[in-house]
Amino acid sequence: MTPEPVIELESLTKRYGDHEAVRGIDLSISRGEVFALLGPNGAGKTTTVEILEGYRTATSGTVQVLGADPATAGDDWRARVGIVHQETKLPEDLTCAELVEFQALLYPRPIDPAEALRLVGLEPQRGQRCSTLSGGQQRRLDVALGIIGDPELIFLDEPTTGLDPEARRQAWELVEQLIGSGKTVLLTTHYLEEAERLADRLAVIVGGRIVAEGTPASLGGRGEAETTVSFRLTGGLGDPPALDGLEVGPATADAAPLVRVRTWRPTEVVGLLAAWSRDAGSDELPELAVTRRSLEDTYLALVAEHGDPSPADLEATR
Ligand SMILES: Nc1ncnc2c1ncn2[C@@H]1O[C@H](COP(=O)(O)OP(=O)(O)OP(=O)(O)O)[C@@H](O)[C@H]1O
Ligand SMILES: [Mg+2]
Repeated sequence: MTPEPVIELESLTKRYGDHEAVRGIDLSISRGEVFALLGPNGAGKTTTVEILEGYRTATSGTVQVLGADPATAGDDWRARVGIVHQETKLPEDLTCAELVEFQALLYPRPIDPAEALRLVGLEPQRGQRCSTLSGGQQRRLDVALGIIGDPELIFLDEPTTGLDPEARRQAWELVEQLIGSGKTVLLTTHYLEEAERLADRLAVIVGGRIVAEGTPASLGGRGEAETTVSFRLTGGLGDPPALDGLEVGPATADAAPLVRVRTWRPTEVVGLLAAWSRDAGSDELPELAVTRRSLEDTYLALVAEHGDPSPADLEATR
C-alpha cells in the first residue's frame, strides 16, 4: 500500500518582485512522516512552508495539503493544521495561560491548555504576561500554541532557535511524542543534529531549489561515502595488518597510537581487523569506531557545491 500523501508540491515557484525565491520545488510528504527542510538563510524554506500553510500564495505550481489547496481551504482544514511560525508576535497583556486557553477556543478538539503548557515546560510561567517571557520561553509558548488544537499536520519553522540545550532536548522529545501519536511534521532547522535526530527524510534547499533529498543517513551519498575505521594499537596487538588506506598515528604519553583505515568497504575492513585481532589474542579492539562523514559535512559540501549562482548565471537562465 502506498502511504497517503499529506503534502504534495509540484513545480512550486514564488517570486517577490523580480526576485525568484522558490524556483521549482517538488515535494511529497506522507502521513506520519517527519520531514526536515534544511538550507542557508534566504534559501526559500519559510516561503515554501508558508505557502503550504496558506499564509503566502504561490506564483505557480500545484500545492495540495491534506487534500486541499491551502490558499482557498476553509476553517475545517485550518483546524487540522498546527503552525509555529519562524517569527511571531505575542499579545502583550495576556498571561501564558490566558493566551493558550484563548487559542484553544479556536479549535474543535483542543488538548487541555494546562497540558500544552506542561509539554513545553512553561508551567511555572503560566500566570506570567507573555511580554515578560525570555526569548526561549516565548519560543516554547509558540510551540504550545502550535499544538493546542491537536493538529494532524504540524509546521515547525525553526522551532528550537534560541532555546537552551536542555529546552531543545525537551522540544525534541515533544516532537517525538507527537510523531508517536501519528502526526505529520514539516520542520525547518539550522541544527543538523536536530534534523538527524528527528527527521525520517530531509531536503536541502539552496537558492530556491532542492539540491538533495534523502534520509539523514543517505543524504548526498552519505551512505556510500568513504568511511573511517579506527582503533588503538595497544601493546599486545603487534604490527597492524597491511590494508589499503591504513595509517598509524603517533603514540602519546597517555595513549597508544590511533590506527585509521579510510575505506569504501568498511564491513570488509572490520571483518579483516576482527580476524587479525583474534589471532593476536585480543577479542575486542580498543576504541574500535566506524565513522562516516557527518551530516553537517555533507550539508556544507552540498551548499558549497550549489551555492548562490552569480548574477551572470542568473541572467543566462532567464
Ligand atoms: N515578503 C517578501 N518580500 C520580498 N522578498 C522576500 C519576502 N519574503 C522573503 N523574501 C526573500 O525571499 C528569499 C527567501 O526567504 P525565506 O524567508 O523563504 O528564506 P529562509 O530559507 O526561510 O531563510 P532563513 O533560514 O533565514 O529563515 C530571501 O532572499 C528573502 O529575502
Ligand atoms: Mg526562514
